[in-house]
Amino acid sequence: MSHFRDDKPGLRTLILGAGGHGRVVLDILLHGGGHNVVGFLDNNPQLQGRRVDGVPVCGTVDEVAEIARAMRIDGVVVAIGDNGVRQGLAREVEGLGIPLLTAVHPSATLAHNATVGRNVVIAAGVVVCAHCQIGDSVILNTGAIVDHQTMVGEAAHICPGVRIAGRVKIESGVFVGIGATVIPKVTLGCESVIGAGAVVIGDVEPLSTVVGVPARAVASTATDDDARALIAPARPREGDRNSLFVATDLT
Ligand SMILES: CC(C)(COP(=O)(O)OP(=O)(O)OC[C@H]1O[C@@H](n2cnc3c(N)ncnc32)[C@H](O)[C@@H]1OP(=O)(O)O)[C@@H](O)C(=O)NCCC(=O)NCCS
Repeated sequence: MSHFRDDKPGLRTLILGAGGHGRVVLDILLHGGGHNVVGFLDNNPQLQGRRVDGVPVCGTVDEVAEIARAMRIDGVVVAIGDNGVRQGLAREVEGLGIPLLTAVHPSATLAHNATVGRNVVIAAGVVVCAHCQIGDSVILNTGAIVDHQTMVGEAAHICPGVRIAGRVKIESGVFVGIGATVIPKVTLGCESVIGAGAVVIGDVEPLSTVVGVPARAVASTATDDDARALIAPARPREGDRNSLFVATDLT
């Protein structure tokens, strides 16, 4: 495929995570131009040696340092849907001295004075308005709107079709579910979860889950086992809580 020839111009880029979100990131990078996506890394043994959307899976995430060196990589995008995993992995990659790249779909509209961090993914149709600050490893998913002077903290995920009003403060690791709406000037506490379609009209406590119209707090039934099923390290390292694990399809 001429698309992925080794001598193609552009930044030689690896995508970490070959699941659903990884495929979205690949599409954004191909649309945006300027990137030569040379491969995926993923810890799923079944993906090794195969191609995902035509791009080879070159190895595991644990091998990122060696593979980046051998393939003369210019940078990586960490494409893991889970906020905590994405944040941890991005920090580890940066600690290895590998640049983190940001992927912006050409159909997204960003205010000239908005600031955008590293390892940010901005999908098709996103609108980011004046004076917004978008932190590292944030996902602004398809068609999301972020209005003026809103701050989006590290590794938050703003799902497709979300509408965030002006002067909202979204702390790190927040998950805003598909189609939710947030009125102006509220704060979404760190790692809180906003249910799909919720309308948030007041501050949300850190680590809490809110759903409905207007949004109200609920006790989440998700268990540790559920979380483990979603984030299954293919090659866990004994006693290493910061192992470079990766789930394959979290979004
Ligand atoms: C909010 C959410 C995370 C809750 O998941 P959970 O912790 O497993 O919670 P449960 O399914 O046990 O639901 C708890 C209660 O909230 C209600 N509820 C859950 N999600 C709701 C939603 N989006 N809107 C309204 N009510 C909701 C349930 O009916 C249940 O009510 P009950 O206690 O009266 O029976 C999940 O339902 C959700 O909305 N996820 C969004 C996913 C998404 O947007 N993905 C896009 C990826 S790009």
